[in-house]
Amino acid sequence: MSIRPLVIIPDSRLRLISDPIVRVDARVRAIVEDMFETMYDAPGIGLAAIQVGIPERIVTVDVAEREDGSAEGEEPKKNPLALINPEIISSSEEISVYSEGCLSIPEYYADVERPARVKVRYMDLNGETQEIDADDLLATCVQHEIDHLNGVLFIDHISKLKRDRVMTKFTKLAKQKERDEA
Ligand code: NI
Repeated sequence: MSIRPLVIIPDSRLRLISDPIVRVDARVRAIVEDMFETMYDAPGIGLAAIQVGIPERIVTVDVAEREDGSAEGEEPKKNPLALINPEIISSSEEISVYSEGCLSIPEYYADVERPARVKVRYMDLNGETQEIDADDLLATCVQHEIDHLNGVLFIDHISKLKRDRVMTKFTKLAKQKERDEA
């Protein structure tokens, strides 16, 4: 297992449409292990494979720590969920709003409206088809990660003015980093 470097905006790979997984094999399971390690290390509650530079339809999520409200100093509970080729098969009309963040857009948060509940079909690590009904934070998180598989970022759901401001800031940071490393 290893922690992989995160892909940060404005890296154009984040705009790729990821490819479906044909077979869930040892290669895919190894990617999933690295993704969990990278996600927990960040720390984050969701990760799409393209965020570690792999344009394949793999998502990891774990919203347990945020939702169970573990006491301070207590080992946070884990509830890892790996979704291969996830797709939303139905969405509620009811909308909820969460302040979202993204490991590819560090330390930026903005309110995003999404369907409050979704039904998601995916393959598990045994290659079996599964369905889950997600609500609350899990619903938001899964929709955010599935967006990544389609080259969509949460800032695409906010105003153009705010998005342009974020992109400008991160483009400057990336250029600065390039200069520093030159
Ligand atoms: Ni994200």
